[in-house]
Amino acid sequence: AAGTVIIPVVVHVLYNTAAQNISDAQVQSQIDVLNEDFRKLNADVSKTPAQFAGLAADANVQFVLAKRTPTGAATNGIIHKQTKTASWSTNDAVKNSKRGGDDAWDATKYLNLWACNLGQGLLGYAQFPGGSASTDGVVILYSAFGSRAKYSAGTYTTTYDLGRTATHEVGHWLNLRHIWGDASCGNDLVSDTPTQQTSNYGCPAFPHVTCSNSGDMSMNYMDYTDDKCMYMFSTGQSARMNALFATGGARAGL
Ligand code: ARG
Ligand code: ZN
Ligand code: CA
Repeated sequence: AAGTVIIPVVVHVLYNTAAQNISDAQVQSQIDVLNEDFRKLNADVSKTPAQFAGLAADANVQFVLAKRTPTGAATNGIIHKQTKTASWSTNDAVKNSKRGGDDAWDATKYLNLWACNLGQGLLGYAQFPGGSASTDGVVILYSAFGSRAKYSAGTYTTTYDLGRTATHEVGHWLNLRHIWGDASCGNDLVSDTPTQQTSNYGCPAFPHVTCSNSGDMSMNYMDYTDDKCMYMFSTGQSARMNALFATGGARAGL
């Protein structure tokens, strides 16, 4: 599609304890982060090393909380639902009302985000394009949802408190692979991201040279670095995401 794609978003907040019932303001702070990161409006993009500065891209995707439910009723796009489930795994139960979760809205019309208490140290997980509509979308740990910098009164986990988990997971939802290709010096199917040996954590000094590259693109949202140390998509990643919205693409309906 030419120009900017605007994606309606529904956020399903599933809470067992009061702390997990994150506020609408914390939810909005996450939408604001997505709109900065996917439009290259994030201030920290200026930290991109000179070697990659020409590759940092506006992905031309915008997000807006849904104003209508699937049946046309008015909504603010945020559902708060209590659950007996104390902690969730990657088995998609959170996406199913019969399993204590909350059903997805029509995945051809909305991006579904679930904020909940993920166990096992998980920050989030996503479904790639082409999967089942009933499980389409992104699940995020409630305390990694939103940005401390935009809404300080929220509930946040350290290191992952700037909303970049959702940026990373929505990248997967838009067909991006991990930047190391999930293999040693693997292939992420994007030509302008350098081949790198494996995931990076924390905040690596640049350049971290692996696989005969001139430095890993560890500041890419599709690495595993800290929220404050990831701040760019590349031109090739933007093209790969936008191909989904073209006629015949897997997310052409949005
Ligand atoms: N899928 C990754 C995980 O669950 C998410 C990594 C997000 N990284 C971040 N800096 N927020 O571990
Ligand atoms: Zn990932
Ligand atoms: Ca690459």
